[in-house]
Amino acid sequence: MKVLVIGGGGREHAIVWKLSQSRMVDKIYCCPGNAGIAEMAECINVNQDDFQSLLDFVKYEWIDLTIVGPEAPLSKGIVDLFESEGRRILGPAKAAARLESSKSFSKDLMRSHGIPTAEYKVFTSYLHAEEYVKFKGAPIVIKADGLAAGKGVFIAATVEEAMDALRQIMKNRVFGAAGDRVLIEECLQGEEASFMAFTDGKTIVPMVSSQDHKRIFDNDQGPNTGGMGAYSPAPVITEELEAAVIEKIMKPTIRALKSEGITYKGILYAGLMIDRGKPYVLEFNCRLGDPETQPVLSRLQSDLMEVAMAVTDERLSEIKIEWKKEPAVCVVISSGGYPGKYRKGDVITGLAEANNIEGVHVFHAGTAFKDSDIVTAGGRVLGVTATGSSISEAKKQAYEAIDKIRFRGMHYRKDIADRALNRGSE
Ligand code: AMP
Ligand code: GLY
Repeated sequence: MKVLVIGGGGREHAIVWKLSQSRMVDKIYCCPGNAGIAEMAECINVNQDDFQSLLDFVKYEWIDLTIVGPEAPLSKGIVDLFESEGRRILGPAKAAARLESSKSFSKDLMRSHGIPTAEYKVFTSYLHAEEYVKFKGAPIVIKADGLAAGKGVFIAATVEEAMDALRQIMKNRVFGAAGDRVLIEECLQGEEASFMAFTDGKTIVPMVSSQDHKRIFDNDQGPNTGGMGAYSPAPVITEELEAAVIEKIMKPTIRALKSEGITYKGILYAGLMIDRGKPYVLEFNCRLGDPETQPVLSRLQSDLMEVAMAVTDERLSEIKIEWKKEPAVCVVISSGGYPGKYRKGDVITGLAEANNIEGVHVFHAGTAFKDSDIVTAGGRVLGVTATGSSISEAKKQAYEAIDKIRFRGMHYRKDIADRALNRGSE
């Protein structure tokens, strides 16, 4: 069978890598892909936003399945178009993807169906928002309603910081129309975890748990990023908690959407805050997490193609998804300056040596070819991922691999997975 993967980051490299091991898959295409993906897939030069051209390509090449990595094409309706032409595509339709693309839609759904989440209020008026912040005090959370590449959330420790966030979003419009509405939320305390599941709209099958590290510097300091590393499993998600997340969050969310006439198919990702043993939803994503996918798919024993087809063909209840026991850790190497301004085009060395280390796979995120070299081409450059007999073993292997890799200005956190180790994981 032939598959097309949409996207070109570390998540998509992990998807392509896993598909390349499938007995069912003969050929993988990726749009746009990156230098690492190009080793396993044919990277195609079609505009990622031009859904009609992508559909034409799928028809011309007789592609059996398309897998969508990022949220943007989902929120713009790529699934609706492909399905209207009878093509298999993994991901939710536009209306279902609103769970991620509109925070107010998602919060309103949670509130009206009793799904645990932080208290909130939605504002379109700057003056009213300002008044509300003064009334509530700090700490308080300010969020742009629409998609803002993970940067639209401000955890304000003081009222001044909150006011500044409101000004940025509503007055300076740094996120454009995504900031037409803002959410002001109660600040939850506790430990975060990522919970991802496959669903065909009827059956929900959880993946192994994971946790990412969002801040740029060690000890969770500095600005938020797309994610500087991740590990799986997340020890905060016990078996009991997993059951609670499925019963109190995942199932009720799918049911709530259904009650509004929306079928959710694809991957449902809940960003959770665990406070005194109870899970609260921070946000929903309608796709796999990046970088969580890198350690999570490293632990998938089953054939990803078989799983993806079971989701699109609505027979998820008929298959069994198996996972490896070995934990996995992914450390992201970013360009110096990220998440602010950064350089591109610096030569990366040591990739082969890093990949040679037992249990290690280096997933590419922002890389490209220049002549015969592989060079940096994005903020997050690589996701060095290792599996091992324990979290500490996997972490050791990942950092050993990083020692082999060099490029000008490279930056990575030294404490990925320490949160799990501090909880007593081995
Ligand atoms: P989101 O994009 O909504 O997941 O927010 C990004 C990050 O902001 C989350 O991973 C949390 O670290 C933090 N966050 C979001 N909402 C809240 C909240 N209500 N209370 C505390 N932290 C939050
Ligand atoms: N790692 C967080 C996300 O993918 O949204």
